[in-house]
Amino acid sequence: MDLEAFSSQLTALRDRALTALEDAVDPDALEEVASAYLGRKGELTALLSGIGALPAADRPRVGALANPIRQQLDAAVATRRERLNSIALEVRLAQERIDVTMPGRALTRGSLHPIPETYREIVRVLGRFGFVTFDSPEVETDELNFQLLNIPADHPARDLWDTIYVEPPASDAATATSLEAPTVEAPRWLLRTHTSPGQIRAMREMRPPIRLLTPGRCYRHEAVDASHGFEFFQVEGLMVDEGTTMAHLRGLLDEFAHALFGAERPTRFRPGYYPFTEPSVAFDIQCVVCDGSGCSACGRSGWMTILGAGMVHPVVMRNGGLDPERYQGFAFGMGIDRIAMLRHGIPDLRAFLADDLRFLERS
Ligand code: DAH
Repeated sequence: MDLEAFSSQLTALRDRALTALEDAVDPDALEEVASAYLGRKGELTALLSGIGALPAADRPRVGALANPIRQQLDAAVATRRERLNSIALEVRLAQERIDVTMPGRALTRGSLHPIPETYREIVRVLGRFGFVTFDSPEVETDELNFQLLNIPADHPARDLWDTIYVEPPASDAATATSLEAPTVEAPRWLLRTHTSPGQIRAMREMRPPIRLLTPGRCYRHEAVDASHGFEFFQVEGLMVDEGTTMAHLRGLLDEFAHALFGAERPTRFRPGYYPFTEPSVAFDIQCVVCDGSGCSACGRSGWMTILGAGMVHPVVMRNGGLDPERYQGFAFGMGIDRIAMLRHGIPDLRAFLADDLRFLERS
């Protein structure tokens, strides 16, 4: 090979290399091209190793030709590398760009579950008459749930409630013995079957005048269907003062029913039986489905019972530590589930605890 041929090979190699560099579309491709031409095993290196075949006098001139070309190619690699890096940066910035003018994601608005919603409504209405809330535990003693409410052991009235008895945590045994026990037996624990034990707890804790509402979950060993749950919600009402009469109870319950079911809704008292009240009543409203003409929702009677009530039994008053000669009181207890079903036309109380969002979003 002579010098001229060598020189034209060099220029051809340079031109090919420059085109290949321009064609490299990403940093990896670029490094590949660079090493194919300029690397230790690259084409330029290979070409220059043929220098030995030239006459000795030509060799320095080859160097003089080759060096600027190598420099030119090195510079071209550097320029292309920089360009590709800046393209990569632009791409990344474009991907990470936040369009602050884009409309936000719509937030769905939550709503209260119908049970607390109804409970709040009950508290709102009765709160206007001075009733305040009072918490009472869900795990109760047999004594508070039954005995002190005038339902002795083995009394047939116990059959009204199928009870879920539980083993107490060891540390709670101490609390139980601190209550005045009418029996010497160790206390039996249960999941409260109603909120009525709150009456005893409240009377022992505060002096009249008492006006309170005790809300919460209650439990019974029930076969579950559309109108029976083994877990359900009640609100207990209690008023104790001097000179409290059944007329106060009637007036209050009328106001309550009218606030929840409309000012024109007829109401009535029916005789009832509860061991802890005397006399006892069932409080009915005219059927909200048929307005009194009789339908399947009201058993063709035209009326629906929404709560039980009565005048606090003297025995219960005494068990609460109050003198029944001096104080009188009334109490009432209602199922929140039932009131919520009537207010919202919900046919099956199992829906309350099913956690189905389609149900919850509609209420
Ligand atoms: N505790 C009763 C029940 O669960 C409801 C009840 C009736 C509560 C009459 C009362 C009352 O306070 O006076 O069925």
